[in-house]
Amino acid sequence: MPLWQGRFQKELDKQTNDFNASISFDSRMAKQDIRGSIAHAAMLGKQGIIDEAESEIITKTLREIAAELESGKLSIDMTAEDIHTFVEAELTKRIGDSGKRLHTARSRNDQVALDLRLFLLDETEKLKDSIDRLLRVLTAKAKETYDFVMPGYTHLQRAQPVTFGHHLLAYAEMLLRDRDRLLDCKKRMAVSPLGSGALAGTTYPLDREFAAAQLGLSGISHNSLDGVSDRDYVLELLSCLSILMVHLSRFAEEVILWCSWEFKFVELDDAFSTGSSIMPQKKNPDIAELVRGKSGRVFGDLMTMLTVMKGIPLAYNKDMQEDKEAVFDALDTVIMCLDTFAPMLETARVRKDNLRAAAAKGFINATDCADYLVYKGLPFRDAYKCVGQLVASCIAQNLTLETLPIEQYKEACDLFDDDVYDAINLDVCVNKRTVTGAPAPQCVLREIERLENLI
Ligand code: ARG
Repeated sequence: MPLWQGRFQKELDKQTNDFNASISFDSRMAKQDIRGSIAHAAMLGKQGIIDEAESEIITKTLREIAAELESGKLSIDMTAEDIHTFVEAELTKRIGDSGKRLHTARSRNDQVALDLRLFLLDETEKLKDSIDRLLRVLTAKAKETYDFVMPGYTHLQRAQPVTFGHHLLAYAEMLLRDRDRLLDCKKRMAVSPLGSGALAGTTYPLDREFAAAQLGLSGISHNSLDGVSDRDYVLELLSCLSILMVHLSRFAEEVILWCSWEFKFVELDDAFSTGSSIMPQKKNPDIAELVRGKSGRVFGDLMTMLTVMKGIPLAYNKDMQEDKEAVFDALDTVIMCLDTFAPMLETARVRKDNLRAAAAKGFINATDCADYLVYKGLPFRDAYKCVGQLVASCIAQNLTLETLPIEQYKEACDLFDDDVYDAINLDVCVNKRTVTGAPAPQCVLREIERLENLI
């Protein structure tokens, strides 16, 4: 039975009923709906809007319903219109008229706005745990590989030497910002709209702060129209999730590249890779590809909600029921991606020798070679040109800067001496990059320590 009987002569058309109902997805908010109702009932009792005794029986029965749902003794009636309808009907079935008093001074509009906030606050805790787990894996892996020299890239062309640990920590920085953004968005989420009523507040003497405090929320909304129709917290969360997925997708893309024969920097554990139905030799990074692909659906969820919200007049409109599936999907997807990515990375084998071999080709010490001349007094622009010519000559002779004879160095510039070979040694080149945030192994260790304190 819907909550809105009275003025209707007919039952809702069957297909329309299915179209209108939201229980199939908002049943996930049962716990939060009950928590919200308990706070509301307690506040109604405290304010004398309903009898204290009735308030007590309502809250006690709601707790029983929550416990029975939790244990599986009670299951949700999936023919109810939504979770709010189900909980109120179940309450009324158990305690009669007292149950019917629960909805005094409340509308489903402020109720659902509250429930979704509470639900997302709970879910973002799980999300934070998943981010922390990946951060821990990243720092542990960076510790293992803090001195593995590899080429750093720009334009996907070998550029300058870095360390694998340093490369991993770049993703740790992104995830830290993701975590910060999430915590920031929770501040605006933890606001109670209860008391906004359907749209115009209520004539009852509510204590809105009391209800909010009961729920552990830090504040209340200050405009009833906004209270019921604000979904910024959904948009903000979806934005945070989308940015996080940009990061994961970039990381996934690198893992995919690194697993290819062209790179072979990384080998995934068999438990986190898949084979081909026809090509017996294949070992595919499907998990990373799926993470990359699933970023699309999270961005889609954000776009869904931006579009849903952009044209609706104040205050509540049924369009807003679409918020739940989009944000639930995004949250589930991101948590699943993080939780699969972390063990995949944790068990991956990093091929130190291949990293080193790649670093040895591609003239990634050319900048260091130019810097060598700068330290000897040559202006950088001249040094740059001289080394550029040396690189061209190496390519023509199939040599590297390490194997180019000293005579040829001296011919190009008389400032060159035997010590140039030290200056362009890859380990030296990496070890000297010690400015804060640079890839020298000692810097990586310092940043790992900083991260460990933050996580
Ligand atoms: N199922 C609805 C939603 O998710 C609950 C609010 C219904 N309010 C209303 N006025 N019909 O948005």
